[in-house]
Amino acid sequence: MNYSFLKGKHILVTGGAGFIGHHLVKTIIREKPAKLYIIDNLSTGLQSNIEDIIGLPEVAFINEDVAKPSTVESITDLDYIFHLAAVVSVPKSFEMPFLTHRTNESGFINMLELARKLKVKKLCYASSSAVYGEQMQMPIQETATLNPQSPYGLSKLLNEQYAKAFQEWEDIESVGFRFFNVFGPGQRADSPYSGVISIFMDRMQKGEPIQIFGDGEQIRDFVFVDDVVQALLLGAQSEITFGLYNVGSGQTTSLNELYDVLKNLTKYSNDPTYQEARKGDIKKSAADINLIKNQLNYNPKFNLKEGLAKLIGTA
Ligand SMILES: NC(=O)c1ccc[n+]([C@@H]2O[C@H](COP(=O)([O-])OP(=O)(O)OC[C@H]3O[C@@H](n4cnc5c(N)ncnc54)[C@H](O)[C@@H]3O)[C@@H](O)[C@H]2O)c1
Repeated sequence: MNYSFLKGKHILVTGGAGFIGHHLVKTIIREKPAKLYIIDNLSTGLQSNIEDIIGLPEVAFINEDVAKPSTVESITDLDYIFHLAAVVSVPKSFEMPFLTHRTNESGFINMLELARKLKVKKLCYASSSAVYGEQMQMPIQETATLNPQSPYGLSKLLNEQYAKAFQEWEDIESVGFRFFNVFGPGQRADSPYSGVISIFMDRMQKGEPIQIFGDGEQIRDFVFVDDVVQALLLGAQSEITFGLYNVGSGQTTSLNELYDVLKNLTKYSNDPTYQEARKGDIKKSAADINLIKNQLNYNPKFNLKEGLAKLIGTA
């Protein structure tokens, strides 16, 4: 893809040491921005993800809390904000609702304030399919009635509502992306809050037992991280003044099917054990991606098998 619009621009990526963030940062730096700021407090992100980038003269790494106004004081010129920093886990958001509120909501308001002060061209931010909660109609369109079922989902819905209000009141242009289940290289497997693919793969490769919460018939849309980066950059490039888009692959897989695919790929022989479903976990989540395809020309390049092959290095 051609992202030459980033050349010579001043860009901020929050959460840039995280899973999705470090892939985005690596794509942006190839386009030769004038300045790339990365804000990340390394709470779940890893400095090693961006070690080769933070030494570059055009990069400023700010290891601070995204929710503190002082964190952004040194930034004086900005064209684009990509805001990804967040408490990202549904179970953690139940355990730590105040931290979730502070990081996800105050952090977002800090970005809106910065966008207003520096008159940025576009604020692109990570929302989540968690804003939908349990839905009857599949695949889910952006027009569905929103029904978040966790502090995490609620915080993302509030981000969207703030973005809409600030577009109307202050002309701040923004595009929010409702990511479905993102997977790819660099996704951590060492936390109970990690993505299901990274956890399954890690345990299978180590020959460890695997638990599935619920009956395994939960349906998900697994989208490869390169396609998520594509969506974010198309959003920044677009003329849209306010947008909210599903970002998925457009295909669905049950956890039991995923388990079987990974079992074959890793030559793992054990069957899973099934545990009670977790609070806040959604039964069905399938993305309708027609809106982003039609309005931003999004074109996902990887299906699940292609993404997994790239992930385990056989593609
Ligand atoms: N991975 C998915 O499947 C998925 C799905 C839907 C939405 N999202 C959203 O995408 C974004 C990126 O998620 P990810 O999967 O890369 O997770 P991640 O945990 O790898 O990335 C989040 C980053 O934010 C940083 N961070 C957290 N709190 C911070 C704070 N207070 N100040 C500064 N930095 C802070 C973390 O250190 C980390 O590097 C998040 O907003 C998440 O809610 C992800």
